[in-house]
Amino acid sequence: MLTYVVVVFAAFSLFSAIATRIFTDYIINQRVSEQQRNLNSISVSLSPYLKEYDSDSMNRILLENSRLYGGRFLILNPNGVVLMDSFSALLGQRMQLPEVYDIMFENMDASYGFHRINTESTGWIWSVNYTSAISSEYETIGILVYSESIQDVIVRASGMTTTLALVTIIIAIIIILLSLMLSGYITKPIKKLQEVASKIAKGELHQRVETTGNNEISRLGETFNLMSERLETMDAMKSEFVSNASHELKTPLSSMKILAQSLIYDEKADKKVYREFLTDIDAEMDRLNDIISDLLLLTKIENDDRALNLAMISFSDLVNKVAISLRPIAQAKKIRLKTEIVDEITLLADGLKLRIAVVNLIENALKYTDDKGKVDVRVYKKGETANMEVKDTGVGIPKSEQVKIFERFYRVDKARARKTGGTGLGLHITERVVRLHGGTISVKSAYGKGSTFTLTIPIRTQADKG
Ligand SMILES: Nc1ncnc2c1ncn2[C@@H]1O[C@H](COP(=O)(O)OP(=O)(O)O)[C@@H](O)[C@H]1O
Ligand SMILES: [Mg+2]
Repeated sequence: MLTYVVVVFAAFSLFSAIATRIFTDYIINQRVSEQQRNLNSISVSLSPYLKEYDSDSMNRILLENSRLYGGRFLILNPNGVVLMDSFSALLGQRMQLPEVYDIMFENMDASYGFHRINTESTGWIWSVNYTSAISSEYETIGILVYSESIQDVIVRASGMTTTLALVTIIIAIIIILLSLMLSGYITKPIKKLQEVASKIAKGELHQRVETTGNNEISRLGETFNLMSERLETMDAMKSEFVSNASHELKTPLSSMKILAQSLIYDEKADKKVYREFLTDIDAEMDRLNDIISDLLLLTKIENDDRALNLAMISFSDLVNKVAISLRPIAQAKKIRLKTEIVDEITLLADGLKLRIAVVNLIENALKYTDDKGKVDVRVYKKGETANMEVKDTGVGIPKSEQVKIFERFYRVDKARARKTGGTGLGLHITERVVRLHGGTISVKSAYGKGSTFTLTIPIRTQADKG
């Protein structure tokens, strides 16, 4: 910061020094060239009178000009001796001045010189002597000397210097204050943001930054807050998921524990009871296995967010094959499972994941439909989308539950689900898969009459890949 201040000051001082110098030189030069021009014309007018030595006329001219310009006029002979003096004091003296020698010995027409002289009235001042040759027929017959004070020019220049110095200091101070203010204005919120970010990095997810105004930095703060909010929600969701999952895993485990303990403490239990209890334990183990498999599948899909294994697949074939593989379940419940392929559809998709979604929907329809019911699967194209509709004549889903069934572990009828071996993760997984493919899943259902699930995904082809 200090170096910055010094640099600003140095730059401004240098600038004002140069400006003052240029300004002073300029006004002095102007004054000198103007006075020289005047002196030349006066010496021209004096020339005829000096030749005839008409001292009255010369005196008149000197007095006139002395009044006009205020300075002192001298006329010297070619040897530098004073012939006439508008102040009358130096008559007969030899003027030993470089500007007079310039005319006498250097063959110059005009010259000038600056002198610092002591005057009784005003002390030390700067004055200029101008000299001009008075010629007649190419011969120097005399030298005209004019001497005047240039103190007024010096005063003007130094006045200018003071003004410039003042302006320089004021501007420099303004610039320094402004930059201090601006840098604080900009760096303060960024520092604040950095502080909060490092707190969040340490796990304090509830931290937010204050945002005021409507500039880039406050918008950055708003985005930052949104990000931390999302982070906090995700963190809460993860904790909730862990506790839900633990609960779901504990249920079959508790059942198994009770069954096992009953057998341990009932010493006289007969073989039939043992068989029955062990069968129940076996069923609970299957259930535990199902939950763990679904959980593993779910984490895999969550991690694979950007890593869909895309390939061109036949969607209609996929649905057909799944329906065939599930036929035994339908037959066991005497459900009439019908598959209708309206359109043959090939598209870019992750075949393995899409298969999971299709299996879940058809499996649910068979699972939640009573014996001798009907399940109709239809594959069709609509615009640029591939659709699969799974329609059943099953138990149906109350309107209020139709959104919740896509949540993790949610089941409408827990007792029934236990009997049929559900985990409550199937629809959640299905929805995730569909969403990864840019598609949607919707449900229409009347409680007690049946449900229709429709899966819709946009048809992408190889060309769109990437
Ligand atoms: N076709 C359907 N008919 C009626 N209810 C359904 C149907 N599909 C799903 N459900 C309801 O939605 C719940 C969640 O389904 P899902 O996530 O597949 O879990 P699961 O099948 O393991 O119970 C089911 O428990 C059931 O209550
Ligand atoms: Mg299911």
